[in-house]
Amino acid sequence: MSEIAKLELNGEIFEFPVIEGTENEKAIDISSLRTKTGYITMDPGFKNTGSCESSITYLDGEVGILRYRGYSIEQLAEKASFLEVAYLLIYGSLPTQIELTSFTNSITKHTLVAEDMKQFFEAYPAKAHPMGVLASMVCSLSTFYPESLDPNRSKEAKDLTILRLLGKLPTLAAWSHKNALRHPFMYPKNSLDYCSNFMHMMFAMPTEEYTVDPVISAALNKLLILHADHEQNCSTATVRVVGSSQSNLYSTISAGISALWGPLHGGANQEVIEMLEQIQNDGGDVDKWVLKAKDKNDTFRLMGFGHRVYKNFDPRANIIKKACDDILEKLNVNDPLLAIAKKLEKVALEDEYFKTRNLYPNVDFYSGIIYRALNIPTEMFTVMFAIGRLPGWISQWKEMTEGGEPIGRPRQIYTGATERDYVEISKR
Ligand code: SDX
Repeated sequence: MSEIAKLELNGEIFEFPVIEGTENEKAIDISSLRTKTGYITMDPGFKNTGSCESSITYLDGEVGILRYRGYSIEQLAEKASFLEVAYLLIYGSLPTQIELTSFTNSITKHTLVAEDMKQFFEAYPAKAHPMGVLASMVCSLSTFYPESLDPNRSKEAKDLTILRLLGKLPTLAAWSHKNALRHPFMYPKNSLDYCSNFMHMMFAMPTEEYTVDPVISAALNKLLILHADHEQNCSTATVRVVGSSQSNLYSTISAGISALWGPLHGGANQEVIEMLEQIQNDGGDVDKWVLKAKDKNDTFRLMGFGHRVYKNFDPRANIIKKACDDILEKLNVNDPLLAIAKKLEKVALEDEYFKTRNLYPNVDFYSGIIYRALNIPTEMFTVMFAIGRLPGWISQWKEMTEGGEPIGRPRQIYTGATERDYVEISKR
């Protein structure tokens, strides 16, 4: 017998069904609330509100669990390739070798972007933030593939758009970096794997040979896997709402990129490095900056700390922190910011303010240290997050569109002026 939730309003009892997921999470289904009671709920930031049932990613913030389609992030980060994880998220199962080879080859065939798009890049100033360029370029892809404007056109058309996005996003990302340097664009090389190809397009020059260090491509593979999906975070919720209007996938992913850009979300990885540099330039007095983060009158926050869901630890942060030492040693990089980050973490985790609010390092706290070791510029860090999150956004969009979900349209409680008559300007 499934549970029933009872709500008493003005002496009347209303009953609502309880739904339970495969990991015993429970929700009160209030889809009939307004019809039955005339009331709506209020939950700013949706901290207690579920928007959907999903079979893609499970996370338990209390005990630090993160699984993609049931597989633990620890195992996937250690054993899988990024495209293998992308296939898993989008199509629901780990690919066979034949499926993975076909998927990889199809993506490789779609890494080029239309030559016309190069002039779009050239129109941007060198100081253009690459996230602004990327969001625009991804939406612009829809203008080259008018058949993609109907997201429900056919399974084949949907799969082709998915392959095009997975193939072209790294190219658009690398070209936004080259454009900022006013360096010649490097075309994708089909002989390289996904991560090596990206690094080639980012750092190779037409005048010399460039070989990608396998340590670097392996580090990037791990980072992209760790960022691949995270259930209903801000940018994924954005993708599901924008996609629910039946907008095309390019414009929907562009909206996700824009949401990710914010410093409270994916933009935090850039903010973390800028914060660590600020602390370093200020003499490295970590205690002083922890005090500032606790001071309600100070707008400074410890970027890379805290999380809406993780109230214990972010399993991704643990994996990245371990990888930091390993990768920096292999690359023979000694980054003083790493020492500052570790000291900051230690001081914060021993401080009552952070402990009582369950504030721990999140995925963004250490990721920038690795990106720096890979010579990726700070302004490109959130672009890296977007490349990693793309298969997650696509999988969530696919699940939403194939699940026949209604258009997302929240309600509100109006608190403005009640009815009043128009006043002629001469009488105001
Ligand atoms: C990502 O949702 C996801 O899954 C996101 C993500 C993903 O993979 O998609 O995991 C990626 O976005 C990670 C988060 C990156 N953002 C940052 O690192 C920015 C710094 N962190 C915060 O701004 C904050 O912790 C949030 C935005 C992450 C979470 O904010 P919440 O859940 O709305 O919590 P809150 O702002 O209400 O904070 C609760 C309390 C407040 O203090 P009180 O009012 O209770 O006294 O904790 C304090 C906050 O002031 N607080 C911090 C803090 N984060 C929260 N104080 C100092 N420094 C911080 N970083």
